[in-house]
Amino acid sequence: MRILSGVQPSGRLHVGNYFGAIRQFLELQEKGHECFYFIANYHALTSLQDKKAMEESSLHVAMALVAFGIDPARSVIFLQSDVPQVAELCWVLNCVCPVSQMEKATGYKDKVAKGIAPNMGLFDYPVLQAADIIIYDSNLVPVGQDQKQHIEITRDLAGKFNRTFGGEILVVPEAFIVPEVAVVPGIDGQKMSKSYDNAIELFAAAKQTQKRCAQIVTDSTPLESPKDPDKCNVFALLKLFAAEEETRQIADKYRSGGYGYGHAKGRLAELINERFAAARLRYEQLEKNPDEIGRILREGGEKARQAAEKTMTRVRDACGILRNM
Ligand code: ADP
Ligand code: TRP
Repeated sequence: MRILSGVQPSGRLHVGNYFGAIRQFLELQEKGHECFYFIANYHALTSLQDKKAMEESSLHVAMALVAFGIDPARSVIFLQSDVPQVAELCWVLNCVCPVSQMEKATGYKDKVAKGIAPNMGLFDYPVLQAADIIIYDSNLVPVGQDQKQHIEITRDLAGKFNRTFGGEILVVPEAFIVPEVAVVPGIDGQKMSKSYDNAIELFAAAKQTQKRCAQIVTDSTPLESPKDPDKCNVFALLKLFAAEEETRQIADKYRSGGYGYGHAKGRLAELINERFAAARLRYEQLEKNPDEIGRILREGGEKARQAAEKTMTRVRDACGILRNM
């Protein structure tokens, strides 16, 4: 089975990205599937228009994937921009995509509702994402809940192309979403996101993580009073990190009183720092050796281009697009 997913280099990765995406990336690799994971820099360009930030974030995401154990010997790690065929397929899919379907896409609608003047790239974002997925004949796409609509659009476009050009030319993919971690809350209880300033970063110093956990929003129930764990932002995060037994014990402590939010925040920071310690160390090593990540991305790009060209050859042929090169 072929697995594919992408992460935008639009800022520093956070706990939501780990549980919603990266953890599944790893699991699927460990199961022996053929995995393609890439840095979606052309998607980020729809909103991040700063050379230095784009370059830095792209390397950050690439190093983070490797630091977590995505293994370039088994999985293909690459930059979206190293596969120009994706932009070519995006154009072809644009030509079978109804404008009305894009007008209904939530990412675009949300920006318009916020008063942001959307660019054409943002309007076309879902079609570029469909091209990303379809070009590698992907079967399964591990993502968080917020990406569900994009995968639906991808399925529609692959189906529409197949019906228009007669035959099973493109693979119709499926989303892989793990319900318990589909929407990880941020420190304010809303969905954790780079753009809401509510994220807990994966690659931060242990002290910084502690500080961030101390900022999690709670109500003002006094320390000695009983508390409802299921209404607490700290507990919502704690249960992602603690083992089952400890989660139960902490829930009991909440309910019986005498256990403050400060205690829970301290324990959460400890668990986060423990969970990510090895990846953070590996990340620091990669940072010291920029040639290594450059080599990984170059080799990944080469493999990705080969796979992409095979699909594009089928697509051009199916549409009667002649080429003399
Ligand atoms: P952000 O919303 O912070 O910009 P991205 O859009 O770059 O994050 O997301 C990269 C991957 O992480 C996607 O698969 C996305 O669904 C997943 N993801 C992002 N935030 C969360 C979250 N809070 N909970 C679960 N998954 C998430
Ligand atoms: N839109 C995705 C996000 O914001 C990133 C992305 C781009 C992606 N292309 C993809 C995810 C293809 C999965 C498959 O997170």
